[in-house]
Amino acid sequence: MQNDGSPHDAYSSFLVRPSGPIDGTVTISGAKNSVLKLMAATLLAEGAYRIENVPDITDVYTMGELLASMGLTVTHGPGTVDIVCPAECSTVAPYEIVGRIRASIVVLGPLLARFGEATVALPGGDNFGSRPIDMHLRGLEAMGASFETEHGNVIGRVDNLIGAEILLDFPSVGATENLMMAAIRAKGITTIDNVAREPEISDLAEMLNKMGANISGAGTSTITIDGVERLHATDHTVVSDRLESATYLAALASTRGELRLERARAHHMEMLLAKMRSMGMTITPDDDGITAIVPQRLRSVDVSTLPYPGIATDYKPMIVAMLSLADGVGIVTENLYAGRFAYVSELARMGAQIRIDGHHAVVRGCDRLSGAPVKAHDIRAGACLVVAALAADGETLISDAHHIDRGYSQFIEKLTALGIDITRVATDRRRKD
Ligand code: EPU
Repeated sequence: MQNDGSPHDAYSSFLVRPSGPIDGTVTISGAKNSVLKLMAATLLAEGAYRIENVPDITDVYTMGELLASMGLTVTHGPGTVDIVCPAECSTVAPYEIVGRIRASIVVLGPLLARFGEATVALPGGDNFGSRPIDMHLRGLEAMGASFETEHGNVIGRVDNLIGAEILLDFPSVGATENLMMAAIRAKGITTIDNVAREPEISDLAEMLNKMGANISGAGTSTITIDGVERLHATDHTVVSDRLESATYLAALASTRGELRLERARAHHMEMLLAKMRSMGMTITPDDDGITAIVPQRLRSVDVSTLPYPGIATDYKPMIVAMLSLADGVGIVTENLYAGRFAYVSELARMGAQIRIDGHHAVVRGCDRLSGAPVKAHDIRAGACLVVAALAADGETLISDAHHIDRGYSQFIEKLTALGIDITRVATDRRRKD
């Protein structure tokens, strides 16, 4: 890959200068955490699929690479991906790709359902702690699959998946998706209790039902699946990205002003919007978006992350950036991931006053932050540094911007159109690490 500062260059950085107030409109893209699973679902049946409202993010290209390595034909267009799944596919997801995108674990359920075998590299840890897949495996075992681990791969086999009653220890997004995709081809009825209720789960269930599956209850805590023998290809439009919407709302909090989020879905982020309103934001939803106004400095609040419909862990870095600039002290509690506070030391380099105590962050708001060279540790951490940089004196250089490219479609272009001073620059490799 070239080091030319071009989009998706692994070595680019973002240079941000204080900007605002915003007065404009941004169009929210399709959700990363939905499209990756919709793409994996194409393994379930032979045929030609078209997915629309696809974000232009590197994770989509990586998932496309994974599917292509398995024998599918993947063609990316503007806002679309066309996938043709053949009668025979490889059932191996190699570490070289899985290591780049943990979401590739969701090929496990479809491969077992269609071919009765799967070899998927274990994704390992990431920048915010170890993320096991025990619930995925236990649920699939309940349906008759068996697993062994060899050379860093989990190898699954099953003659025929059989419907089962499954209770998840925790409403895991990935486990819910893998089990749902396996159960649609199982013999008989599967009920999965304590499932994840995210809008992206409902989006996947909707596409699977269009493929001929019989899934009910998606979006509630219990999903019931009546297994079918045949599935077929379909077209689908990706649900709007609530995490991207939250990021632009947090950017507005930094710059102040008025922002229209076209295609944002307020009913997918109600708890967050309630919290933002209690900080002093005016937020008005309508049928095709959200309009938000931030006239003055916001007030601090306390926030706890919880599974959907609670406040998502992925919003938290943006909320911490907002609280760093708000009036007062806010306590943020992380209930999902151990150690997802790596970005705090980067915010501290910008003058933020944050104390970490176990899974709590105590954030004392300051009037102004100060631009500094900082590093993006993951997608959301990178976005939070951009949010903070908008209200920091001087320049902020955010290195490892490739993390941000994994999840934010046309980020520089969209922010620039809002009048934000942000550019992509080539990182001097000597400065890395
Ligand atoms: N967990 C287990 N065992 C399992 C599965 C999960 O212990 O078998 C634990 C994890 O370690 C974690 C918690 O359960 O502590 C939540 O994990 P979950 O399975 O719900 O997360 P995921 O499916 O791996 C998705 C999103 C993440 C988001 C989480 C939680 C995708 C591609 N990723 O991950 O998104 O943080 O749900 O909402 O859908 C992001 O977009 O930046 C991102 C990291």
